[in-house]
Amino acid sequence: MTKQHSAMLERFRRVKLLEQATPIQRLHRLEAELGDVLGGVRLFVKRDDLMGLGGGGNKLRKLEFLLGEALSRGCDTFITIGGLQSNHARLSAAASAHVGLDCELLLTQVVPRTDVEYQHNGNVLLCGIFGAKIHVLPDSADSLGFAHERAEVLKSEGRRPYVVGTGGSSPVGCLGYAACAQEIAEQEKSIEGGFAQIIVPNGSSGTHAGLAAGFAAMGMSPTKVCSYTVLESRKKAQKTTFQLAQATLALIDATASINSSDIEAADDQLGEGYGIPTRAMFSAVRTMARTEGLLLDPVYSGKAFAGVLAAVRKGTYNRGDAILFLMTGGSPGLFAYRSAFDGNIA
Ligand SMILES: Cc1ncc(COP(=O)(O)O)c(C=O)c1O
Repeated sequence: MTKQHSAMLERFRRVKLLEQATPIQRLHRLEAELGDVLGGVRLFVKRDDLMGLGGGGNKLRKLEFLLGEALSRGCDTFITIGGLQSNHARLSAAASAHVGLDCELLLTQVVPRTDVEYQHNGNVLLCGIFGAKIHVLPDSADSLGFAHERAEVLKSEGRRPYVVGTGGSSPVGCLGYAACAQEIAEQEKSIEGGFAQIIVPNGSSGTHAGLAAGFAAMGMSPTKVCSYTVLESRKKAQKTTFQLAQATLALIDATASINSSDIEAADDQLGEGYGIPTRAMFSAVRTMARTEGLLLDPVYSGKAFAGVLAAVRKGTYNRGDAILFLMTGGSPGLFAYRSAFDGNIA
């Protein structure tokens, strides 16, 4: 990142939620397990699951800027939306508690799982423990509409609410991953040849968009980043990601630009839909756990890493390429999927 780019980010108020840069680690044991199939590719992970607050995960990077904006506006209540097992909701609750804001969550039943663990364990349990007020809405509900209605009620009581939509993926939230692009650019100086590809899960698209904007602002190619969508079709995810990347880039560098062809999202790991397990996900979660002792999650990183393993097996990458997978956290979600893992030996 150029000095100018750093200065652009410094214009935005940011609450420090990460202690330090998250480490990049090589997956030596997994590489050994893949053996010849690997074709000389080097596999690395960036540990964005390794953060001190609220169990960690990618949403904390967005929340640094979102809470910064909320505090600079003098807000006292953070309102956001998500699915019942939203990691964003959990980390919003934890980070709000950390900075002394109230937190209200409007959670919808988007995933067709009715078992008691999905309904009450994992992230939703933690949201309550972090002190958030939880409103559970039916799947068909317009949760963002409800969030704004709730904000009006709070305003009428003299409160000052701040509302952000799914996944914290507003352009301001995406600045967290534009800043992460700088962190990666620094760290990759010690990786021979740099990273050929950086792979991320794509839900509300902010992680991919923020990284793409961050690299574009540094004069590096945004095509360095690609994602596996776990929510939308490839076409829809690419469109949302592109629009968000443009809006984020506009906040930090009015002179740089990004094209729609710079954004590549694959949907071959989506399976039957958001939050619905696939055999490849179960296998990826178990492979990472058993070779490296690392936890992926069943909804986002498990599916995206299944994509990396499939790409390696297909020979998509070149010999010697260094591939970086962003571990985005979400392990509390595993506890919500106990019955799905139970007996599934894929
Ligand atoms: C663990 C985890 N990984 C990845 C993502 C996807 O990030 P984004 O919504 O920025 O696309 C999410 C989003 O909720 C998440 O919770």
